Amino acid sequence: MEQWVIDRMLKEKGFIDEPVNEEIKLVEEINRLKREKNAIILSHFYVHGELQDIADCVGDSLGLAQAAAKTNAEIIVFVGVHFMAETAKIINPSKKVILPDLKTGCSLAESAPADKFAEFKTKYPDHKVITYINATAALKTMSDIVCTSANAKIVVDSFPPDQKLIFAPDKNLGNYINSITGREMVLWDGACAVHEQYSVEKIIKLLYEHRDAEFIAHPECEKPVLLLAKHIGSTTSMLNYVHESSHKKFIVATESGIFHQMKKACPDKIFIPAPSSDSTCACNDCSYMKLNSLKKLYTCLKYEQPEIILPEEIIEKASIPIKRMLEFSE
Ligand code: 13P
Ligand code: SF4
Repeated sequence: MEQWVIDRMLKEKGFIDEPVNEEIKLVEEINRLKREKNAIILSHFYVHGELQDIADCVGDSLGLAQAAAKTNAEIIVFVGVHFMAETAKIINPSKKVILPDLKTGCSLAESAPADKFAEFKTKYPDHKVITYINATAALKTMSDIVCTSANAKIVVDSFPPDQKLIFAPDKNLGNYINSITGREMVLWDGACAVHEQYSVEKIIKLLYEHRDAEFIAHPECEKPVLLLAKHIGSTTSMLNYVHESSHKKFIVATESGIFHQMKKACPDKIFIPAPSSDSTCACNDCSYMKLNSLKKLYTCLKYEQPEIILPEEIIEKASIPIKRMLEFSE
């Protein structure tokens, strides 16, 4: 039986203390464990602020994949969602990759089941496949190259103009890239639940009320929303934009976690979350990203669980398109 299971049983019976639960203690313990175990913490911009602050590297999907590729640490703790940790494991098969919660899925990755995609692909035998990184490892095994929202355009542009392409799984990003490159890529019909919920009518109303504000959006948003945006880009690109812009007020269409870095980088600026069609939900929160917590991070580092385990064959095949993207983006 593994030590962490024994520990939990002993704890339940009251034989050993509960793990420390105050935030400061947790931060101290996480930092101590990290040093002791030679671990690195990689956090995405969408997780809770305290999980961004404790990270060795905080970034967008591309930045974090690059950090995972460069690290000398023995353990990678991925505070984001499952496909990101999976990507880190594929790049580093000999390292231990752990994540605070195994249930951190992604609505976009889930919108493209591998068996259905394999069937779809057979209809387009002369097409190359570009897969957005928000996809399962199984989908990546069927791809020629992977991309993120930060490098999608340059990846697409790297193919000769007459090369037929499939773009999966995000139809909104695919549509956007088609519109700026003049391509007619075949798109898989997938989307992100968070980025699809913005209301064009409410955004227009908000822009009318805040005429001094600029509207910026992530390319996973639907076309009518993107048509209103002054700037469209990955989370890093949005962050750089608000930092460099002379504007003081922004309406932002992406997940709420990004506000933490925006406020840190520009304390004197105002950031307004873009409104959603449903006013009763916390729609700007990605429920998967928000499953991560300090306590889960602590437990994960302590017990080195849950761990990403992938069949060797998947690692081998999926690493080819991921490494192609990384070489491309150096
Ligand atoms: P970025 O690569 O821009 O960080 O986006 C990741 C993501 O999951 C968007 O929903
Ligand atoms: Fe996936 Fe959307 Fe969450 Fe990004 S915001 S991780 S695409 S569900």
